[in-house]
Amino acid sequence: MSAPKVIRWGILATGGIAQTFSRDLLLDPKTRGVTSIKHIIVAAASSSGQARATQFLKDVGAASTAKAYGSYEEFVKDPNVDIVYVSTPHSHHYQNTMLCLEAGKNALVEKAFTVNAAQAKKLTEKAKEKNLFLMEAVWTRYFPLSHYVRDVITSGKLGNVQLVTADNGLCLDPEETMADGKHRMVNPDLAGGALLDSGIYALTWVFQTLYTTLPPAQRKAPSVSSALKIYKPTGQADELATMLLVFPRAENKDVHAVATTSIRYGSDPLGDLSAGPACRVHGDKGEIQIFPPLYRPTKTRLILRDGPIEDREWPQPGPGKGSGWFNGFGDGIQPEGEGQGMFWEADEAAYALVEGRKESPLLTWEESVLIMEVMDEVRKQGGLRFPEKIETTDFPVAL
Ligand SMILES: NC(=O)c1ccc[n+]([C@@H]2O[C@H](COP(=O)([O-])OP(=O)(O)OC[C@H]3O[C@@H](n4cnc5c(N)ncnc54)[C@H](OP(=O)(O)O)[C@@H]3O)[C@@H](O)[C@H]2O)c1
Repeated sequence: MSAPKVIRWGILATGGIAQTFSRDLLLDPKTRGVTSIKHIIVAAASSSGQARATQFLKDVGAASTAKAYGSYEEFVKDPNVDIVYVSTPHSHHYQNTMLCLEAGKNALVEKAFTVNAAQAKKLTEKAKEKNLFLMEAVWTRYFPLSHYVRDVITSGKLGNVQLVTADNGLCLDPEETMADGKHRMVNPDLAGGALLDSGIYALTWVFQTLYTTLPPAQRKAPSVSSALKIYKPTGQADELATMLLVFPRAENKDVHAVATTSIRYGSDPLGDLSAGPACRVHGDKGEIQIFPPLYRPTKTRLILRDGPIEDREWPQPGPGKGSGWFNGFGDGIQPEGEGQGMFWEADEAAYALVEGRKESPLLTWEESVLIMEVMDEVRKQGGLRFPEKIETTDFPVAL
């Protein structure tokens, strides 16, 4: 067996998700049956100084040879970095990713990809011009569970799909936990709000079931009707978004979808799946259900009119019980030895680099831009515009 191909990562920003991603990244890929690639972290950068980057590298267990940078500008010049994971707030993705691409670095960019579609388009154009890999880090799309759901749909088991409903409610109390309005969930300067942060997952389920599952030539943009509720304390972020999308299909086979998201209510208020599925894909022969949370689901139910109900559990792999290893995000710590599941997207990026691909077929540049266009339209209909400095496509702009 040949040695695994080593992918050398640089981590841009040292916040919550950067830590979760990096811990997953450094897990032995054999724990998920992957033998052809291996990830290492060779550098990290913090806008708040080199000491923070040094501490981050130590905390996530990177090798002592990994380099710590106190500036993103210096970091992107590091010749040892194959690919950068951009994990700043989404307000900053455009500026930070353009910096990477201009420096000749491949990039995996946290969701939401950018603030608006114009920025997303500019990034994909730059990646094309520079012949670089670029992917929005919508990790859920790469889960084995997501492959299974898409396969159920493309195999025709559900018949013609009629309707998809998808909900991602976060169950947070913003007045209690984000009272000063500075948190990225509600802060207009950080493109705050439910839509870009959590609505993207409801839209992900709508798109990966109704759009990604079609051959590219048959994919058509949906029409969008929506309502947004503004979060009053900061005035320029949304707390509730309801979207009705109609996907045109030939032969009167249009499909409807309802995507909803909220900061306040939870899709699974008790955290025990008692509220039922968060996504239902309804076909004329049956349905597939995906249980919450939609960003990290671990349970599906297939209900066919002419077959038994099939429940499946999809725990994330990892080093297992007794390993003393833990990962998670915020308060959501996973059981001992269970990965968060962010390694799947890292593997997809690695395969692309090895194969010379510039984008992933599971989330093409065109689809990322289209989803940003949908969110632009929802913001337009809801009267939500962020400060110009983060909506602009000018580069560079200091934020
Ligand atoms: N995939 C997922 O499950 C998931 C989960 C949560 C969040 N996310 C996404 O990941 C991104 C980051 O979220 P997070 O929860 O990690 O945020 P966070 O904990 O606030 O971290 C963001 C980091 O970005 C850097 N940064 C640079 N300029 C900043 C500024 N003006 N304000 C705040 N931070 C700044 C900081 O790192 P340095 O000081 O080191 O530069 C900061 O620690 C967002 O786009 C979010 O949507 C994804």
